[in-house]
Amino acid sequence: IIDKAIAAANKMDRDELLFSYKGILYPVTFCSPDVFRAMETLEVRSDDIILAGYPKTGTNWLGQILNDLVAIFEKKIQNKESSMNDEEQEFPYLEIGDAGKYERMNKLPSRRILFTHLLPENLPRSIFKNKAKILLLIRNPKDVATSFYYFSNGMSPLPSYETWDDFFIAFMTKKMPWGCYFEYLSKWNKYADDENVMTITYEELKENPVLGVKNIAAFFGISLTEKELQDVVERSSFQSMKKNSQKTHGTFGNVFFRKGGVSDWKNLFTEDQNEKMDKAFEERVGGTKLGIKLKY
Ligand code: A3P
Repeated sequence: IIDKAIAAANKMDRDELLFSYKGILYPVTFCSPDVFRAMETLEVRSDDIILAGYPKTGTNWLGQILNDLVAIFEKKIQNKESSMNDEEQEFPYLEIGDAGKYERMNKLPSRRILFTHLLPENLPRSIFKNKAKILLLIRNPKDVATSFYYFSNGMSPLPSYETWDDFFIAFMTKKMPWGCYFEYLSKWNKYADDENVMTITYEELKENPVLGVKNIAAFFGISLTEKELQDVVERSSFQSMKKNSQKTHGTFGNVFFRKGGVSDWKNLFTEDQNEKMDKAFEERVGGTKLGIKLKY
């Protein structure tokens, strides 16, 4: 899917790359209004594993961890090896693919993993009705912006920017694919106390991956031996994932695994931009539960 989207985008003009649906921009080579309309037909199950995260918060990292945890779970509890071969698997991002995807997904066995960058209001209602557990991933907005800037300039399906200053303005004025990060945080904040939602920050997982993986496994009811825990942490390390990136993410895999650290924003932000973002952060999410978790 990624390589196909890149090939299609390479033939397009910059101003054709995004479309707007319900007031939010999305890349045309990944999403479509038909797919959004068909999404409501997905029957979400209570044992589905949902990963919600704005782009560039580390969703591929968490995806690796969750895939590994489910593989361990299936082997142990259901005594089966991987339940699907590559052809049977669906591209894990809920909103990316073709409109027939949800009908196929309704036939897939449990436990399914779904990743999404969407706002809660744009998700299929059955996620909340059937009480699927949601892992909500958040990251310091300055590093999100930094990561998004380099990613936009490395991935043809997204509009590129001549300068960091141009990108900063777009990020602050809600012109990003998948919408504005502050809006994302403030909308998801309403779910932060929900018992079916666990929030984790990129920074806390980076600081203590063993504890992070342990907590995620416990949240989804997956038990791990010490050895399994260590193996999941090792396979999801930045170095391991970067090394594997061509296999997992295609020709442009490297673009997904750039630096994998905290505070790279200090190499890009001017003092003025730093103040502007602090002010916007304070105004939009400052006193909220997610905002407090993200203090940096
Ligand atoms: P940087 O651009 O700051 O390096 P997403 O997966 O949501 O697109 O997020 C991408 C960001 O997560 C990138 O950040 C990427 O390097 C980082 N990342 C990917 N895998 C990681 C890992 N295993 N450990 C830490 N960071 C990782």
